[in-house]
Amino acid sequence: MVDRRRARRSCLAVPGSSAKMIDKARGLAVDSFFLDLEDAVAPLAKAEARGRVAAALNEGGWDGKIRSVRVNDLTSEWTYRDVVEVVEGAGANLDTIVLPKVSSPDHVRWLDLTLTQIERATGLEVGRIGIEAQIEDARGLVEVDAIVAASPRIEALIFGPADFMASINMRSMVVGEQPPGYDVGDAYHYVLMRMLMAARAHDVQAIDGPYLAIKDVDGLRRVGGRSAALGFDGKWVLHPAQVDAVNELFSPRQEDYDHAENVLAAYDWHTSEAGGKRGAAMLGDEMIDEASRKMALVIAGKGRAAGM
Ligand code: GLV
Ligand code: MG
Repeated sequence: MVDRRRARRSCLAVPGSSAKMIDKARGLAVDSFFLDLEDAVAPLAKAEARGRVAAALNEGGWDGKIRSVRVNDLTSEWTYRDVVEVVEGAGANLDTIVLPKVSSPDHVRWLDLTLTQIERATGLEVGRIGIEAQIEDARGLVEVDAIVAASPRIEALIFGPADFMASINMRSMVVGEQPPGYDVGDAYHYVLMRMLMAARAHDVQAIDGPYLAIKDVDGLRRVGGRSAALGFDGKWVLHPAQVDAVNELFSPRQEDYDHAENVLAAYDWHTSEAGGKRGAAMLGDEMIDEASRKMALVIAGKGRAAGM
């Protein structure tokens, strides 16, 4: 079964063509990683990268991280071979495929059916490998509800800010930063909120994309803090210097986590004391009811998944 509950606070991008960076990735404290066959790999290096990526998955040493591969997008000539070679070669050691530039539910259906065929042909459990769909252009955003509903394999929607900014002609060169001249709010609010609604409506995770200025950890905290505050589950990281900040941003604060566990315990105790007949209870000065329990469950769920 696909797993939509595991922590995905930090998702590390690793070029599939670099043995050195793949090795280094093993030791980083990220929740998930993807070995990239798409934009981080030059066209002439793509064929060789497939074998390297499959071998790296089979070699292991990934220490409980979610193991993913980003294949090329479906307008390219590489995608089908990416999927076939990686899943035939290392399907048992692969958790999800990241599919970039998804602009139609057909893209997801194609990948779902292709995975099913390979799983059947190779004796893998059918349906275990999940899909993470990147939303990276206007069409993808407009179609996001149909995209997320297109397969039960979808575990997460991922925002691709760099491609997205290019696709809508946003007048900015700094990924995640506000376009100069736009001074009435957050230019990304609509996009992030739209994706988050689609993700939550289908009970899948929502992941923010990369922050490219890898030395600017304050900038990363500022930009990542916004999607974390909205309710996103995690963000990509491109460099070891970004890992701690992103894990921290997407974990509940300790006091919020402790409070959430207290709310759950108090609510359970009071309602069971009353033989299931009481809907609200007190925790100190705070009144808690079924809605408070749900809010607490979200924070506690994220904290538990992060091992708090
Ligand atoms: C990631 O793929 C991006 O385009 O930002
Ligand atoms: Mg992209």
